[in-house]
Amino acid sequence: MLLHWLLAIGIIFMFILGTYMEELPKGGTKVTNFDLFDLGLITIESSKEMSVRSFYFTLHKSIGVTIFFLVLFRIYWRLTHKPPKMLSSMSALEVKLATATHHAFYLLMFLIPLTGIIMSVGSKYGVHWFGIPFLPGIDNETLRELFKEFHEIFGLILLLFFILHFAGAIKHSLVNKDGVLKRMWFHK
Ligand code: HEM
Repeated sequence: MLLHWLLAIGIIFMFILGTYMEELPKGGTKVTNFDLFDLGLITIESSKEMSVRSFYFTLHKSIGVTIFFLVLFRIYWRLTHKPPKMLSSMSALEVKLATATHHAFYLLMFLIPLTGIIMSVGSKYGVHWFGIPFLPGIDNETLRELFKEFHEIFGLILLLFFILHFAGAIKHSLVNKDGVLKRMWFHK
């Protein structure tokens, strides 16, 4: 449950961050203080001067790598622990749909950060994890462009599955009232 909510928040945040940072202009003045999403709520101070675009790209990569390792741990956990049974009120079709959506989630949660990492290795910058060098960049445009496409397509597919997953959870709690959301929350 903890991993489910941690990853849900992390991945939603990464979608917002990815979409936001792409619109930022290249270059610009280098600074050390960054107002997160220009909302005037959270200011992040960097030890290194960088452009606003570089700051968000660096943040996206650092959080993305963290998510990648959390996903690997989640897959390990799923393989070594039995998942809770589906609700008995669910029809055979609903069980099939939910199982397929869950499998697609695991696959996409693995592939999205992986394609992001490969795309970044294809750039000249490589990947740093909160300032620590993680993987070098090899500056290969073909690799970068190809995995940029994969990153975007897998992201869009995940978004579609997320809508299906969210609609299912809402339908179960409002229409069926079978407590499916409650059992994903921390309670005795
Ligand atoms: C769950 C994890 C992730 C999510 C949900 C995510 C989502 C996104 C989204 C929505 C975009 C903007 C649209 C697009 O071009 O796809 C984006 C762009 C990008 N992502 Fe990710 N991302 C994730 C992980 C990563 C990781 C681990 C890296 C690299 C270490 C990465 C590197 C990038 C880069 C470099 C771009 C900008 C591409 C460009 O315009 O040149 N992402 N990501």
